[in-house]
Amino acid sequence: MPVTFPDGFLWGTATAAYQIEGAAREGGRTPSIWDTFSHTPGRTENGDTGDTACDHFHRRAEDVALMADLGVGAYRFSVSWPRVQPTGRGPAVQRGLDFYRGLVDDLLGRGIRPVLTLYHWDLPQELEDAGGWPERETAYRFAEYASLVAGALGDRVEMWTTLNEPWCSAFLGYGSGVHAPGRTDPVAALRAAHHLNLAHGLGASALRAALPARAQVSISLNPCEVRARSEDPADLDARRRIDALSTRVFTGPLLKGAYPADLLADTAGLTDWSFVRDGDLAAIHQRLDWLGVNYYSPTLVSGAEEGAPPADGGNGGHGITAHTPWPGADRVAFHQPPGERTEMGWTVDPSGLRDLLVRLGREFPGLPLVVTENGAACDDKVSADGSVHDPDRIAYLHGHLAAVRRAMEDGADVRGYLLWSFLDNFEWAYGYGKRFGIVHVDYESQARTPKSSARWYARVARSGELPDTRAE
Ligand code: FCB
Repeated sequence: MPVTFPDGFLWGTATAAYQIEGAAREGGRTPSIWDTFSHTPGRTENGDTGDTACDHFHRRAEDVALMADLGVGAYRFSVSWPRVQPTGRGPAVQRGLDFYRGLVDDLLGRGIRPVLTLYHWDLPQELEDAGGWPERETAYRFAEYASLVAGALGDRVEMWTTLNEPWCSAFLGYGSGVHAPGRTDPVAALRAAHHLNLAHGLGASALRAALPARAQVSISLNPCEVRARSEDPADLDARRRIDALSTRVFTGPLLKGAYPADLLADTAGLTDWSFVRDGDLAAIHQRLDWLGVNYYSPTLVSGAEEGAPPADGGNGGHGITAHTPWPGADRVAFHQPPGERTEMGWTVDPSGLRDLLVRLGREFPGLPLVVTENGAACDDKVSADGSVHDPDRIAYLHGHLAAVRRAMEDGADVRGYLLWSFLDNFEWAYGYGKRFGIVHVDYESQARTPKSSARWYARVARSGELPDTRAE
């Protein structure tokens, strides 16, 4: 029996500005922290940068036409802050806004629904120089930027997301240092997490003040589906700690108006959290129209002796580094969950997505969920006839879409699925070596070739039906 999704389910694909746009120095754009980081020797594979990326800035119309050919109804993209407000202060740059107005008009003209993310990691470098996310001022800067974009696009975009994966911004950016700006200070990471929460809250208020009533406001998190290696109390405690540091550090203030008590206790040796000021939690606790959920793979943990080296799974799928992205979790060991892996080394386990959606649905009844990212990096090869066959990606998508449908049957109110990614692109510290696209990009010629997964996904999206087989 084919699996059927309800009418009105939102089907789409996703990208992010720095990963695809290129044109890093055009139209008044100034460097973001990712420009600086990727241009710093040793920070990215092969020294890859987003200078040119997929050249989407110049190929916007072609890309939207390709999307329209595939017939997928929604597109999640992000706005580059330094393209719109180069120094992170002051008035917007018209040329920057014009690019996004043009993009949105192209999408609407083709019947594709824009889903706009304000911040997908490209902080203007000047704001980092002034202290970055560990500083409170950055949250106020973000709210001002949100107003500028809302003023320019509010008449034509209905679905708004403040931040993408603030966990990565805070803990990979300021904790383990594998993401921009590459700092390795556990307290800075916790401060950054709070100021990202505050930025979301102030940003959501600024959006609602500027947008028509029909506009929807959301945030995309990457909550960890954390599994304990056994029922041993030390393993269960490891799971609790990582759940607090990955997920509840955001869902607590955003959706319950408080930081979890166990998180504050776990990190008490590092900070007293006095950077949380009176009124902050009320500012953060804003109504969400839906919650964006990004999921790729589960995380497997056990208890460990303090100071023990990371176990075989490294720092929870985020690379083994000298610095942990998990402040206050010294007694946690990470393991590679069993099973097949993608090119990222991430275990393929669709049950993790099902469990995560069901858990969020139970914990936050009445809050619609949208899968805002899910997909796989595969070892794609261009065949002699120019085509790209990616059966592994199709199998991954098939499994995860079936898991979404199961979660819906089990009570999760999932409204849509936005596949990562529309195009192969700059995969952050991994550079261009990891391909997540359903459309292949030849970075020399910038030629786009839809892979077999693109045709497969287009059929699923158009029919709202997942076929029994994974056949192309
Ligand atoms: C997510 C990011 C996205 C992409 C995927 C693979 O963490 O939001 O930009 O890199 O992972």
